[in-house]
Formats: sequence, C-alpha cells, structure tokens
Amino acid sequence: MNARAEPIHVTPAFDVERVRADFPILQIEVEGKPLVYLDNAASSQMPQPVIDRLVRYQSTEHANIHRAVHTLSERATAAYEEARAKLQRFINAPDVREVIFTSGTTEAINLVMHGYGRKFIQAGDEIILTTLEHHSNIVPWQMLAEETGAIIRVLPINDAGELCLDQFEPLFNDRTKLVGVSHVSNALGSINPVKQMIALAHKRGVPVLVDGAQAAPHLPVDVQDLDCDFYAFSGHKLCGPTGIGVLYGKAALLEKMQPFKGGGDMILSVSFEKTVYNAIPYKFEAGTPPIAAAIGLGAAVDYLSAIGMDVIAAHEHALLQYATSQFSDLPGLRLIGTAQDKAAVLSFTLDGIHPHDVGTLLNQDGIAVRTGHHCAQPVMARFKVPATTRASFAFYNTMAEVDALVAGIRSVQKVFA
Ligand code: ALA
Repeated sequence: MNARAEPIHVTPAFDVERVRADFPILQIEVEGKPLVYLDNAASSQMPQPVIDRLVRYQSTEHANIHRAVHTLSERATAAYEEARAKLQRFINAPDVREVIFTSGTTEAINLVMHGYGRKFIQAGDEIILTTLEHHSNIVPWQMLAEETGAIIRVLPINDAGELCLDQFEPLFNDRTKLVGVSHVSNALGSINPVKQMIALAHKRGVPVLVDGAQAAPHLPVDVQDLDCDFYAFSGHKLCGPTGIGVLYGKAALLEKMQPFKGGGDMILSVSFEKTVYNAIPYKFEAGTPPIAAAIGLGAAVDYLSAIGMDVIAAHEHALLQYATSQFSDLPGLRLIGTAQDKAAVLSFTLDGIHPHDVGTLLNQDGIAVRTGHHCAQPVMARFKVPATTRASFAFYNTMAEVDALVAGIRSVQKVFA
C-alpha cells in the first residue's frame, strides 16, 4: 500500500488529549518513562467512567440476578439487562434476545461449536475457515472435526495478508455447513470483506460465524448490514472488563441450537424425568453470569458510542497511515501484512533481531507491544516467520507515540548493530 499518497486526516471534533485524560493508566510511567501502550489488540485500557460504573455497581447495586424479589436483586437484574440492550444497540442487533453474554470471544465461538456444530455438523460435512484465523476460531472446529469426522477447508491469503477471495466460492460444496472468518485479523490487521463473503455463503444456504474480536473496538459494526449469522467479540478489547464478551446470533438459529452449558437460569423446569430449557438468550447463560463485567461493558460501549465509532476508525486510520509511512524509512524492518484495507496493527520483523528482544528493549523505553505468534501460527507459517513484533493502536494513541515507537525501534537496531 502507498501510505504516503493519502493525506493524513484527523476528525477535528476528536481531541485525543481530552480522551487520554479519561484513562488513569495512560498517565503512569513504566521503567521511568511515560507509558506508550501499543498492545491494544491483546487488551485495551479502561476509562474512568467504566471504572466508576463498576464501583457504583459493587457499592450500591450488587446481588444475584433473575432470582429474587428484593431490591438489590431487582437493581442488579435491571442493570444487567440494560447492559444487554446497550450491546444490542452497539451492534444494531434486531432483537435483544439475540445478544448472549459469554466470557469472551473464545467462549462465544465454543458456544457455536457446541450449540450449532455438535448438533448440525456430521461426518463428511465441511467447515470453511481462513488462514487468518486466531487459534480460537481454529481449535474448537478441529475438536469438532476430530469428534465427528467433519472436514476443515482453509481459504488462503496472499502476500499482503489479504484473503484470496477468488478461491472462496470453489471451497463450497453440498456438504459445507459453516463458514468461520475473522472480521479483522489480530496478527496483521487485515480487514476482511466479510459482507461479501456472507452474501456468497448465503447464496449456498451456509451460515457464517464472524470473529469480531478485533473489529468491534475499531469499526462501526452493524450485524444487520453484514447479515452475519453469528458475531463474537470480547469486552476487554473494547475498554471494558475481562471475563465478558458477546455472542450475537440470529434468533432462528439460536432457537434451534442446543445449550452449551447446563445449570441454573438456563432452564424453565427441571425434574429427573425431563428438563425444559429456558428461552434465548437465557438458554445459553447457565449459572451466575459475570454481572459486574456485563454492566461495565455496557458502560464501555456507551463511552465509545459517545465518541463515535466512525470518529475512532478515522483517528486510528490516521495513526496507521503515519506509522506505516514512518516504518518505510526504517532499514531492516519488514512489515508483515500490508492489506489495502487494514486496521491500525503493525506486525513486523527486524533483520537479525528476535522479536522477544525487540519487545524487551522497547519495554525499557516504556513502550508496550506484543511479541510472539499472536495465537495465529498459521499466519506466521504463511509468512515463514516464527514470530513478529506487533504494535496495535487504539483511539487514545497519538502521533507522538508513533514517533516514540519509531525512535525505540531505531535504538533497538543500534543495540544490535
Ligand atoms: N487475541 C489477542 C491478541 O491478538 C490476545 O493479542
């Protein structure tokens, strides 16, 4: 991509310094240097309004939900269900019953594997995945394949880290039962043409599960516009707490699926002769859910929506363009993943320097990046590298932090020169 050709544009309404002031952790020092937090694809940071909401919940509203008539239980239930409605609006789901709280993207995908896969996928049936998938959208399907004798087909990527779309349709046959695809690659940042892929799969009557873990924090997501059958994402990458995530599923599919976990709250009645399951979404929320985390995630999407996901996407795109252009001046740096359509993720290798050394030395400058295979070993294998260093940006990052990263990389190169 020609990063220099496009003008760098930041929406004037977006005041990054004002936003940064909302994040206590962005004010700290690491190794005696101001923190430069560029590991947002792994987990983002939490703004004060979300922290405050968690404190208010624990201080004045906490009890178990859906179980009692006392005031606190009613407050907690109302707050939990209000959070579900906020998540529904955030992804424009048509029906609040289609929003299931899970512990995160991984559990959401495992829910689809157990609930849909184990019921509807049999020996000889096929599942289409892509090279770009995170392990969490590979391993559950391999477990299913091992159990049932189903077959996994893989859509490859090109040298830029883009899906080879022309090879997608030929992967289908009469036995294809599901497509699983990431909206945005965690390792490379490639934004995949999921809307187009969903339309193609639907022509064949095949449902599509979208792993939205890396998209929901960075792009406006509209599940009705995408027409996806399932969409999974995590709270902790969205400025919310850990231990919470969402599975969106079309009601008609969710109704047909079997529960993933059994226990309290997911039933209407239980006897040793016959148990009747609860309606969706409760059928999939056995046991006491992460109530505080769900409410915190509701506050997080309120916070992001107040800024505007389109404003966030525009600022992050400007960061990507600037960083990509700065990186092109660094000799010995190989950028892995140069898709035309990309989120603000820069995965790279430095000639002769192991990524773990890069990460360790950058940390000494207060710069947090992730190094390793990013739970995407098939991507690493495709590019014939064991690991990369990955800088992943959020809306609270600044151009000055890009400069700090570039200076940090130059220092690492000097140490190893
Ligand atoms: N999936 C997260 C990442 O890409 C943890 O870092």
